[in-house]
Amino acid sequence: MADLDDIKDGKEFGIDQPARNQPFFLKGANALDWGMQNRLSRIFNPVSGRTVMLAFDHGYFQGPTTGIERLDLAIPPLIPHADVLMCTRGALRACIPATATKPVVLRASAGQSILTELSNELVAVDIEDAIRLNAAAITAQIYVGAEYEHKSIANVVKLIDTGNRYGIPTLAVTGVGADMVRDARYFGLATRIAAEIGAHYVKSYYIDEGFDRVVAGCPVPIVIAGGKKLPEGEALEMAFKAVDQGAAGVDMGRNIFQSDSPVAMIQAVGAVVHRNERPEQAHQMYLDLKSELDAGGD
Ligand code: R5P
Repeated sequence: MADLDDIKDGKEFGIDQPARNQPFFLKGANALDWGMQNRLSRIFNPVSGRTVMLAFDHGYFQGPTTGIERLDLAIPPLIPHADVLMCTRGALRACIPATATKPVVLRASAGQSILTELSNELVAVDIEDAIRLNAAAITAQIYVGAEYEHKSIANVVKLIDTGNRYGIPTLAVTGVGADMVRDARYFGLATRIAAEIGAHYVKSYYIDEGFDRVVAGCPVPIVIAGGKKLPEGEALEMAFKAVDQGAAGVDMGRNIFQSDSPVAMIQAVGAVVHRNERPEQAHQMYLDLKSELDAGGD
């Protein structure tokens, strides 16, 4: 039982050591509150400063996407190898075991489909439900230059303001219309707008020309989407170039779950993102793991 002696005898005050006051490891996040920084530390690995987010939210506007027709079969084997799960609340509740303790970045917008105008979204999750689901962050698209640019930016502003009240960060996704030019000027514009409205991190696409300038001009971390399925070696090279030029990781979907071996691919992506594995070595790692898995390994 505690008594007064515990106080009288205390002498480990470290008088000669100044109080520790370390800067937070993530770009642009130094002034955030403890809860916000704690959630971001679950999303981004504090050692590498990066993340491998597994994105499987595609069904919210395009239905049963190839590779994730059955979320309950496709996703659980990948969970141990992902840092973060990015999905809708419907997918989470219906298909992801609640015993999965990986942080969830919750898709909080909807309202359109591949049959209509993609930029016409609305906020589709109440913050109370995000909290109920233990979301580590919430997310929606800004469609810069699209028909519903204003509305989509307003959605993300609303998420940021609501999330700020509860210490929940917001990921702003740069949604690109089919007729937009995917260049450094466009992504520089869209990612900067996302950061300036208060997004805590931003998802962009990798581009071959000027991606380092896009990263430099965005005051918060950028993660890249994978985009359309590429041969595994090319997808790993894209991930390598992105982190080499300053991206804080990937938010990758199709290039993982549409791979010939999704479990091998997500591990190879992780090696690139967290250990700077070169693309050739990461591709060999993918092939070796795939062979083992094909032969019946775990
Ligand atoms: C896009 O609608 C979704 O937010 C996806 O999560 C995002 O595009 C990342 O997936 P992928 O790597 O397949 O592009």
